[in-house]
Amino acid sequence: MTTVNHLSVLLLFFTLTLPLHAKFNLTIANHHALLTTLQDLGLSPELRRPENLCTTAGIFCQPRVLTNTHVLKVTGIVLKSQELKGFLSPAIGELPEIKELSFPNNYLTDRIPPQIAGCRKLEVVNFRNNTFSGEVPAEFSSLLLLRILDLSYNKFSGDLGFLKYFPNLEKLYLDNNMFAGKVPPALRSFRNLRFFNISGNSFLQGPLPALTQLESPAPELKTMKTNHKNVPKRYIFAESTISSRNQTDNFQAPASSPAPSPASAPSKKHKKKSTKKLMGWILGLFVGLLAGFLSAIIFTIFFKLVFIMVNGGVNDGGPAIFSQLIKAEELAFLDNDDGVAALQVIGRGGCGEVYRTDIPDGKIKTIAIKKIIQPPKDAAELTEEDTKLLNKKMRQIRSEIQTVGQIRHRNLLPLLAHVSRPTCHYLVYEFMRNGSLQDILEEVNNGTRELDWLARHKIAVGVASGLEYLHINHAPRIVHRDLKPANVLLDDDLEARIADFGLAKSIPEADTHMTSSNIAGTLGYIAPEYHQTMKFTDKCDIYSFGVLLGVLVMGKLPSDEFFQRTSEMSLVKWMKKVMTSDDPRQAIDPKLLENGYEKQMLLVLKIACFCTLDDPKERPNSKECRTMLDQIEH
Ligand SMILES: *[C@@H]1O[C@H](CO)[C@@H](O)[C@H](O)[C@H]1NC(C)=O
Ligand SMILES: *[C@@H]1O[C@H](CO)[C@@H](O)[C@H](O)[C@H]1NC(C)=O
Ligand SMILES: *[C@@H]1O[C@H](CO)[C@@H](O)[C@H](O)[C@H]1NC(C)=O
Ligand SMILES: *[C@@H]1O[C@H](CO)[C@@H](O)[C@H](O)[C@H]1NC(C)=O
Ligand SMILES: [Mg+2]
Repeated sequence: MTTVNHLSVLLLFFTLTLPLHAKFNLTIANHHALLTTLQDLGLSPELRRPENLCTTAGIFCQPRVLTNTHVLKVTGIVLKSQELKGFLSPAIGELPEIKELSFPNNYLTDRIPPQIAGCRKLEVVNFRNNTFSGEVPAEFSSLLLLRILDLSYNKFSGDLGFLKYFPNLEKLYLDNNMFAGKVPPALRSFRNLRFFNISGNSFLQGPLPALTQLESPAPELKTMKTNHKNVPKRYIFAESTISSRNQTDNFQAPASSPAPSPASAPSKKHKKKSTKKLMGWILGLFVGLLAGFLSAIIFTIFFKLVFIMVNGGVNDGGPAIFSQLIKAEELAFLDNDDGVAALQVIGRGGCGEVYRTDIPDGKIKTIAIKKIIQPPKDAAELTEEDTKLLNKKMRQIRSEIQTVGQIRHRNLLPLLAHVSRPTCHYLVYEFMRNGSLQDILEEVNNGTRELDWLARHKIAVGVASGLEYLHINHAPRIVHRDLKPANVLLDDDLEARIADFGLAKSIPEADTHMTSSNIAGTLGYIAPEYHQTMKFTDKCDIYSFGVLLGVLVMGKLPSDEFFQRTSEMSLVKWMKKVMTSDDPRQAIDPKLLENGYEKQMLLVLKIACFCTLDDPKERPNSKECRTMLDQIEH
């Protein structure tokens, strides 16, 4: 039932985008390279459509903007079990946007051409069960975005020297080939590697890396385009799982992972003369001493810092200022409770009040102050254990606030300052006069305000850009966890500013500009898988974003009683039903109908359906969302 739903939604998505695609052509270079590649693979002429290669089955293209014109670029070639008897053409290197090359169960021969290195965006390479032979070219190791590499059941020979550094590789299948030599220890640096099979290579020597059996791999194996559905057992590296699991929650920069540089991969074997050995030994000793000395210094500094942080947590003084737009003196009134009590309360969140106040002489005239109260427990009741936990929590909050304070993006509401008091934290933001998207939509529904389609589209793109920054550009990745119209504030130009990001982990109900009516509403934005996994991922944010897109086009919040009267009882389900019906226009906000942007609004609803698919893996990421929204022409 649900898969049928997915399919129809996806199909609809593609049929609706196709006419848009049809206007564009492949670039000449892409066209020639693709035609040559398909010819050399041995795809029969009747299956090719030279006039429009992108409509050939198994060929995937996407529009790209190129100096004011749109063109199509090839992003995937997927030809499974087509009895192809040709070879992989060097012309493949001229398709630089390609992400997937899958030709399983064919009879392709010859080597992988070194020109494949030109396909720098490749994520999936599946050549399983062909008769490819020769060495895998060294150039292959520059495909750093690879996630899945399946070369199993071929006749590849030579060593595994191409396995240098694939930080994104999740699955590696090399079984049933004629690879020789040792398995490079560099494999341990592939921090996302989950599955790995090198059996059936009788010439491989030496110890195999230790493998640990993974108990229930079933959900992992359901990735869309690989055909390994029925493999009974999979193995994982014990070490790499730990590091990859911890990665998302870690506040360490990715650079600190123990990945060796590609040069250190042991791909060549040569004998060293004994003098060289001695020189190397002396040099090694020297380097070792130097390294020891340096690390001693670094450790000293590190422990000092920790000491300062821990001590600072108990009785620290002035505010932490993150912006030049505000001065510490301007926040002095937060140091005493009377000063705070006099402020105007503009909202109440799960963790305390939100205040508003003017700073007549400041660069920013009005600020919003959010108070976060520590869990109200009597000091006498606290056991030693509780106190430790509380201190740990305080430190965690402080470190998250530090991270958030450094973030600058035009679609993220910047934190100006943080004032720490014995029983609470104050977070200081610029006050946004236009309020939140939730406020504005309520005014629109009351008829006291208008919000035309172009303004809504701009808000959608802004939120997507902010999310893209948090999910993709910022390290460590930040998952918002509570994206909803109440957390999207609008500045004076109606540019969207996402609020309350980065703090949700330790302060789940943090609210910048609270409106009391949205507590029940938040439910409508949570991805279905969260209830099972209890884990927020970026794809949960994408689901919430999809709901937000639906809200923008439909003009109704999930809490709207309209949905209680439908048989679906839910915004997302109703949206999907109407979008697959004969008249998807019914879903559009009646106030926006006849504005000449119907096609664009329906496209945004398509993206909303896409973002709210039940399977998180099928949802686009935030970058793809932003790109799709950007490419809608008005
Ligand atoms: C695409 O190609 C066709 C024929 O090759 C041509 O008629 C059409 O104008 C082209 N479209 C664009 C947008 O360049
Ligand atoms: C390899 O592909 C051939 C042709 O499609 C198929 O008959 C065969 O079963 C496949 N073998 C494996 C091991 O997948
Ligand atoms: C590895 O591949 C071989 C043959 O291709 C297969 O029999 C074996 O079950 C696979 N091992 C794992 C752990 O999947
Ligand atoms: C993360 O690493 C810590 C040690 O640094 C370990 O105790 C913890 O179990 C790890 N978490 C996961 C989910 O692997
Ligand atoms: Mg909020």
